[in-house]
Amino acid sequence: MAIRMYDLIIKKRNGKSLTKEEIDYMVTSYVQGTIPDYQMSAFLMAVYFQGMTKEETATMTQAVAHSGDMVDLSSIHGMKVDKHSTGGVGDKTTLIVAPIVAACGVKVAKMSGRGLGHTGGTVDKLESIPGFQTTLTEEKFFEVVNKTGLSVIGQSGNLAPADKKLYALRDVTATVDSIPLIAVSIMSKKLAAGNDGIVLDVKTGSGAFMKTVEDSIELAKEMVSIGEHAGKKTVALITDMDIPLGKNIGNNLEVKEAVQTLKGQGPKDLTEVCLQLAGNMMYLAGKGSIEECIRLAKKTLEDGSALCKLVEMVGAQGGDSSVILDTEKFEKAPFSYDVLAKEDGYIHDMNTESCGIASVMLGAGRETKDSEIDYTAGIIIEKKTGDYVKKGERIAVFYASKEELFQDAEERYQSAIQIQPTEPAHIPLIYARVTKDKVERF
Ligand code: URA
Repeated sequence: MAIRMYDLIIKKRNGKSLTKEEIDYMVTSYVQGTIPDYQMSAFLMAVYFQGMTKEETATMTQAVAHSGDMVDLSSIHGMKVDKHSTGGVGDKTTLIVAPIVAACGVKVAKMSGRGLGHTGGTVDKLESIPGFQTTLTEEKFFEVVNKTGLSVIGQSGNLAPADKKLYALRDVTATVDSIPLIAVSIMSKKLAAGNDGIVLDVKTGSGAFMKTVEDSIELAKEMVSIGEHAGKKTVALITDMDIPLGKNIGNNLEVKEAVQTLKGQGPKDLTEVCLQLAGNMMYLAGKGSIEECIRLAKKTLEDGSALCKLVEMVGAQGGDSSVILDTEKFEKAPFSYDVLAKEDGYIHDMNTESCGIASVMLGAGRETKDSEIDYTAGIIIEKKTGDYVKKGERIAVFYASKEELFQDAEERYQSAIQIQPTEPAHIPLIYARVTKDKVERF
């Protein structure tokens, strides 16, 4: 019997499961344009309310992954491990983790994304390095990985095209924050990217898509199950995004902070998350126990070998590696502005999404799809949740190319900061580790 989209919508609306044949038909027809957006919207909303079984989610992920190119990394020797963050503010971990892992002999062939909404993207950060190319031919991408041990590029145009179309539709139909749909979206791209192992950094808190730890663990379980189902070793860490990660938000400011961290002089929170992510990637590649891998990772910060890897990758991708060796050479924003505490007390809370939006307002992100990014713009945070501040004390410095941007961005930033007389409860940095067998809570 011919499959009809109308019947599939009714099936899902009534809480039933779709077969593989039905899911394959739906994804293929949607990409070909024979299923219209309004029917797909109705289906997505039905999923939002009814959910999907593990089998449906895994099947749909495969269908979306196979809607475009499946990258074949077999000409890169050895085990290749990917890392993916669900997105955050000040999250420059790829710039640190990829060189650490490569310095320990595990190949990293990574495709990254651009900033989305209030969150930054690795590709934009890398493009703040003069000359750095994020679009390479497949041959050149493989050559850079084989030569230097790592390469980070933008997603190729034909990677999971069904996700591109579905994501744009979800964005305007209030169906982004559905755990199975996020899992399908992220994991389809990871499966298409062709790595052998995947470490997922699932962010939780006010700056993340998932605002609670329990939802983040659910999402992590779903994604780990999809990865393992597809024969990839997959592990997820649930990490904090209730406070921006590190101190710098904004593209070349984040590259500078990544370099500091690779020299062993980075902020504690950022360094710790990076060591944990790198340790888990190396563990998946069979380099030893997690503890041994973290020890090896730390050593690459102490002996400078991870920083050397970043320098090599930047050079191999056409970038000016002298700015990595001396970050003072990075272009600086012409204007800066001190943000001062409005009262005495402890910073109790920072709405991290608003901190990200303030940075976008300064020019570090895109206000519209086609906006140009100002690579020098952003924020250096001097006081974070848990710090005591005096009225009039500097809590952050803003950077921008136009002075008139400061006022609105400051309003947004100040509204994100809650100052109270009592010390706030400690916020953990890493909440849990999710594998196919268990959830370890820390
Ligand atoms: N990132 C993605 O790639 N997809 C989602 O659905 C959410 C975050």
